[in-house]
Amino acid sequence: MIGDGVSRRGFLEVGGGVTAASLALTTGSAAALVQSGAAVRALGQEMPNDVELPAAPPRKKRADSVGFAIVGLGDYALKQMMPRFVQAERAHVAALVSGNPEKLNRVGDAYGIPRNARYSYETFANIAPDKQVEAVYIVLPSGLHAEWTTRAFAAGKHVLCEKPMALSSAECERMIAAGRRANRKLMIAYRSHFEPHNLQAMELMARGAAGQLRLLRTEQSYRMSPTSPSENWRVNRALTGGGALEDLGIYGLQAALYLTREMPESISATTFRPAGDPRFSEIFAQVSSQWRFPSGAVAQLATSYDSSGANFVHARGTTGALIMDPATNYSGQKMTLEAGGGREFQSGDPTVQFARQLDHFVDAIREGVRIRTPGEMGLRDLRLIEAIYASAAAGRTVRLNPDATIRS
Ligand SMILES: NC(=O)c1ccc[n+]([C@@H]2O[C@H](COP(=O)([O-])OP(=O)(O)OC[C@H]3O[C@@H](n4cnc5c(N)ncnc54)[C@H](OP(=O)(O)O)[C@@H]3O)[C@@H](O)[C@H]2O)c1
Repeated sequence: MIGDGVSRRGFLEVGGGVTAASLALTTGSAAALVQSGAAVRALGQEMPNDVELPAAPPRKKRADSVGFAIVGLGDYALKQMMPRFVQAERAHVAALVSGNPEKLNRVGDAYGIPRNARYSYETFANIAPDKQVEAVYIVLPSGLHAEWTTRAFAAGKHVLCEKPMALSSAECERMIAAGRRANRKLMIAYRSHFEPHNLQAMELMARGAAGQLRLLRTEQSYRMSPTSPSENWRVNRALTGGGALEDLGIYGLQAALYLTREMPESISATTFRPAGDPRFSEIFAQVSSQWRFPSGAVAQLATSYDSSGANFVHARGTTGALIMDPATNYSGQKMTLEAGGGREFQSGDPTVQFARQLDHFVDAIREGVRIRTPGEMGLRDLRLIEAIYASAAAGRTVRLNPDATIRS
């Protein structure tokens, strides 16, 4: 199980044989790595550690495959998503966008990307006439999602954007409007909607396998140490928002919604940051919230960047409980239904979630299939995040409209 001292990668990659990162926190080194609030722009970073590039360039499988430009060659893009394109039926990497020319060329050579399909942030606009690129995948720090999604729409491309969609509901609204103006698709990369255990959990709850849902508890936590570029921007408010909630807690937030199939009518929340800790000079260390649903069900959500690792979802109903632990990792999901004697589900291989997410977006582009995780879902979630922070700041319960805006 994930324990104290496990790295961010370990939080998500239970089955992946992860080495525990040294979390020796010297306050000096942590402070030195924190990007200044002024650097809210796309800036190239060094190659992440332990990246395995393909031995031979992958090939697209079908003639009608959609070419994606990957924007931001960081940890998640290089270690998780780009290697999974080969498992997708109709998606391939057609272009790269990076602020680090050396990394761009190394990755470009390994993936067989033509030189004229390797862009910097400065030359990105030149991607517009490139017919090989139909979609842009934004894998940048979260505070840059809105700007680069809008730029991709301006270049006439469809956009797959990483979670959280943006850092405010106003940004989300602008992104949706930009997509509509450009007549292009927008999908948020909520991979749990394509992961077999989470899909089965949705189905089990929908058919009342645990009776009527009464209490939902979620926790997504790990102890962070900004000693790598990937964690560096995650302590900068302008690039990350409030912190763990947008990054990790959003998985619990999503589960609370897709397992109850309801919108909360009220939220009360608290935030915490330990005094004098440079990791938390701009962001919260911990966010907890309690949601009340119209059915009477209650959800308790906790997320932390400063506690031992956890990633679980417990849904307790009138006749049983669904235990998912780990719930939303890259792999290694475990799910048990404690009802009628108890039963463990092996719902399928969790690692298919990455390729299925890509193929779903391609189905939306090619066939007009309705997007399961559209921009409107990302907007809803940012509204809920805003309600959580508003409740914590005001020290009182906030009441919500059905569209997750705060009732005045
Ligand atoms: N769905 C999931 O399971 C999942 C998991 C992890 C992360 N994510 C999301 O993916 C996005 C990227 O996360 P990550 O963990 O891959 O981060 P990361 O390792 O730090 O990579 C981000 C990349 O963005 C580029 N970048 C441009 N401007 C930057 C700036 N000012 N500061 C830092 N990087 C900058 C850099 O690429 P170049 O050097 O090539 O320019 C950098 O390597 C985030 O939105 C995160 O929430 C999703």
